[in-house]
Amino acid sequence: MQLKEIKIYYRSAEINDFDEQMQRLIEKAKQQTELSYAPYSNFSVGAAVLLEDGTVVCGNNQENIAYPSGLCAERTAMFYTNSQYPDIKPIAMAVAARNGKDFLENPICPCGACRQSLLETELRYKSPIKTILYGTKNIYVINSIADMLPFAFISFD
Ligand code: THU
Repeated sequence: MQLKEIKIYYRSAEINDFDEQMQRLIEKAKQQTELSYAPYSNFSVGAAVLLEDGTVVCGNNQENIAYPSGLCAERTAMFYTNSQYPDIKPIAMAVAARNGKDFLENPICPCGACRQSLLETELRYKSPIKTILYGTKNIYVINSIADMLPFAFISFD
């Protein structure tokens, strides 16, 4: 048996490290938390997707009394993006979360189901989606969804 290693890189950043377009994307993700429907968890997540033509598409978490029927912000945003702009490549996504009133100090990372769904989009457009995970103290930048999901289910071969 051979021990193998998978290594991923991500960046820790602060808001001034981003250009104006990316700062706007982060701001959109933050604003989206206000539109979230999260009466069960009181945990509001916002996501903003940047397309290669500059269009920004937003979404937020939508909960349901039958808990698993709800949907995370990332999938709400990306499914809407894919449904409305199938011909334009998504190139980046920003995510922000509030536990009640306050934004979290440290970013949250997309759940496993979101990673699998986002990876599908990355593979579909054959282009990495840069993910910016916002926190008031730390902001993480991950260059592609694939980096967040090693051992992904991607092939039937
Ligand atoms: N949630 C998201 O929208 N995105 C994540 O990355 C993690 C969790 C939502 C699902 C649920 O509505 C609430 O946050 C609490 O888990």
